[in-house]
Amino acid sequence: MIPTIDWQDDHVVMIDQRKLPFKESYVVCKTPAQVVEAIRKMVIRGAPAIGVAAAMGLALGGRRIKTKNRATFERQFQRVCEKMASARPTASNLFWAIESMVEVLREHPQASVEELKDLLRRKADHLLAEDQAINKAIGHHGQTVVPDRATVLTHCNAGALATAGYGTALGVVRAAWEVGKNIRVLADETRPFLQGSRLTAWELQQDNIPVTLITDSMAGYLMSEGKVQLIVVGADRVAANGDIANKIGTYSLAVLAKENKVPFYVAAPLSTVDLSVATGKDIPIEERDPREVTHSLGHAIAPPGVNAWNPAFDVTPNRFIAGIITEKGIARKPYKKALKAMKTQSV
Ligand code: MRU
Repeated sequence: MIPTIDWQDDHVVMIDQRKLPFKESYVVCKTPAQVVEAIRKMVIRGAPAIGVAAAMGLALGGRRIKTKNRATFERQFQRVCEKMASARPTASNLFWAIESMVEVLREHPQASVEELKDLLRRKADHLLAEDQAINKAIGHHGQTVVPDRATVLTHCNAGALATAGYGTALGVVRAAWEVGKNIRVLADETRPFLQGSRLTAWELQQDNIPVTLITDSMAGYLMSEGKVQLIVVGADRVAANGDIANKIGTYSLAVLAKENKVPFYVAAPLSTVDLSVATGKDIPIEERDPREVTHSLGHAIAPPGVNAWNPAFDVTPNRFIAGIITEKGIARKPYKKALKAMKTQSV
């Protein structure tokens, strides 16, 4: 599997997800500002991958601060963190990763600036490696809800490309496949950015997992025809009550799943769970450039000058969710209690 993100010497290298599957090219970031730009422009996307990129970007940023004075270092590092936090608003993992990096400073009050730079790099390396392990654990728990011979529908890309490897929703699919379940995947194309058709379909093809591409509007019909046994999606943020924000279109899928009695699961690491946000109504929803709606792969698909609206995420209320699959097991209703217990219990 092609790594989503890695170090190359002292630079951060990411596969350019805007170009996939037509071109395998890489973006090299030498400064934290370049990492912010890469996240904003969706060179790298997907909540866990955004978190890992932010941590690596902050390690880069720390390295570039030219002072030996710890207080000055802390002030400048704080500014780099603030810029990183402005990259995208919805994915909890971005803020979680920044907080994890800031914690390094707090945990080592006596460390010199040089030592802090090494510790920040080590923390970023740890978060990169840990994310893959977490996804494997999500897959391990999640595959238990996948029936043999099921058709599993997914939305957007919550795969290896959206993480440091293996994926969350696609981690569940991969784990089910690896234990020998004869499954196939229906991938929603995911308008407007086409993460489903460009990334999920490509990723599953690479692993020889059977995948069939559909447009978003076909999902309801296929559910009503009994062609879907399970839905698994990722999340950008899970509120304390189990409401989730995920790629626009997820909410409609969840409502249709309830109407058609198809179990609807969310797979997400606990770093996506934000207990400081009480309900989905408090989750900030990113609005992106309307050009993503009026244009597809650089081509205009609407009359010039037409108004377009581009909310990038929606909120699915917890009542539509059969379970939230995390690295510590599957949280079930009442989510408030289950998620709090998982977040606070040590591994
Ligand atoms: O706008 P994107 O591509 O960053 O949105 C990604 C999603 O909505 C994913 O489902 C979510 O981040 C989970 S990725 C494991």
